[in-house]
Amino acid sequence: MPTNPDPGQPHTADLVVFGGTGDLSMRKLIPALYHTDRDGRLSPETRVIAMSRGGLTDADFRGKVDAEVRDQVPIDDPELWRRFLGRLHHVSVDVGGEDRSGWKALAELLAGHEDRDRVYYLASPPRTFGPFCRELQEAGLVTPRSRVVLEKPLGHDLVSAQGINDEVGAIFDERQIFRIDHYLGKETVQNLLVLRFANAFLEPIWNSLWIDHVQITAAETVGTPGRRGYYDHAGALRDMVQNHLLQLLTLTAMEPPARNDRESIRDEKVKVLQALRPITGGEVDRFTVRGQYVAADGMPGYLDEPASTPTTEASRRVETFTAIRAEIKNWRWAGVPFYLRTGKRMPYRRSEIVVQFKDVPHSIFPGGSPNRLVLRLQPEDGIELHIMAKEPGAGEISLKPVPMALSFGKTFTTRVPEAYERLLTDVLAGNPTLFMRRDEVEAAWRWIDPILAAWKADPALPEPYPAGSTGPAAAHELLGRSGRTWHDGEDA
Ligand code: BG6
Repeated sequence: MPTNPDPGQPHTADLVVFGGTGDLSMRKLIPALYHTDRDGRLSPETRVIAMSRGGLTDADFRGKVDAEVRDQVPIDDPELWRRFLGRLHHVSVDVGGEDRSGWKALAELLAGHEDRDRVYYLASPPRTFGPFCRELQEAGLVTPRSRVVLEKPLGHDLVSAQGINDEVGAIFDERQIFRIDHYLGKETVQNLLVLRFANAFLEPIWNSLWIDHVQITAAETVGTPGRRGYYDHAGALRDMVQNHLLQLLTLTAMEPPARNDRESIRDEKVKVLQALRPITGGEVDRFTVRGQYVAADGMPGYLDEPASTPTTEASRRVETFTAIRAEIKNWRWAGVPFYLRTGKRMPYRRSEIVVQFKDVPHSIFPGGSPNRLVLRLQPEDGIELHIMAKEPGAGEISLKPVPMALSFGKTFTTRVPEAYERLLTDVLAGNPTLFMRRDEVEAAWRWIDPILAAWKADPALPEPYPAGSTGPAAAHELLGRSGRTWHDGEDA
């Protein structure tokens, strides 16, 4: 792996973004790079080269960023903004076409800078990953100091993911491949590791003796306007569970790693994925739920959302909500269900991990409820431990669950960085810890595939749920069957 000549200084890099004028680039990557620059974590010579079919000049692209990104970021120093714009370049490329001039232009721009780190960020559809990597190699642009970043979705099933991994792996070594899952860049997700492994009190009780179950929820209020072309063939399971939710599950459930280095954490995560009990055939009905939102309270249903593609059978069959009861077959977690849930057009935007402890073995007070640890990723990063306290007053002791709360925003005066800032900084520094390794991605698909197959074979459509509700009734029954409920209440 390339090493930084001066470890105290940020690496100088050429960051080449395929899909560089697209939505992800304009909404996430460019603002994240600006923040990184503003915090002094971008070397002065680092350049950002956007690749697209757009036919833009450097000046056009800088103008576009000035117009579209300026309002998304704090510009307290116009000179810094001007210098940031100066880092930006644009190269037009004819994807899959005969015209080679774009590749030639890129080669010319990069020539003479072979000693720099080179990051090829593929913010483009997955079918382009293999072809782009081959083009880069043919143009002689893959140097030992090069890395490639792959955005999700990494395939639509195990076989297609293996195909992408093979194609990219034919050009880049695994140590040069950075598969991004932006959830891993979120502050609370990293804090989960610190909470578990830098504090002594949790680890002894982090197991089936003390924990009743775990809930991992990513609820969104947004629907899918304008995204139907993608979403009809993705659905909540591929879009959110295969990557984001399973990543949260692995970090919650993994064994303490020996070191905080590039492989130790990923080694432990992959063991969790491999220990997930497969949900197959007839069990899929019992352990999974799928729903699709329908119009309610003035909000459109999935099929009524504005779309650039026609409504098809795939649109009717796709799930916009899913809930799953997962089990991890190992010593630590035997008998502890991990409930996963995600949905569009839910009543609130909230991503969280809820660890529900068991009740006290013998209660001497009436009205208690078990402890609960909530790790919240969204809307605000924070950690809450719900403990039982006595309500003030004389007479009978009356219990009330109260949160001991840590809000990162309020506790630390430093700005909480966006997930992409952290991840881009790590890519530029060549640190892969927070990126998914090939075996992780494939182990996740191996667990997801049988669920997808069973859903496909089932003639039933997803259960409708009203837009703005907490999902279909079956999702509540999934927990209700064992006397549990989702963490949706007032204190949620
Ligand atoms: C993306 C999904 O990966 O994550 C989107 O494709 C989803 O459908 C988004 O809306 C959620 O990200 P966040 O950070 O807003 O929770």
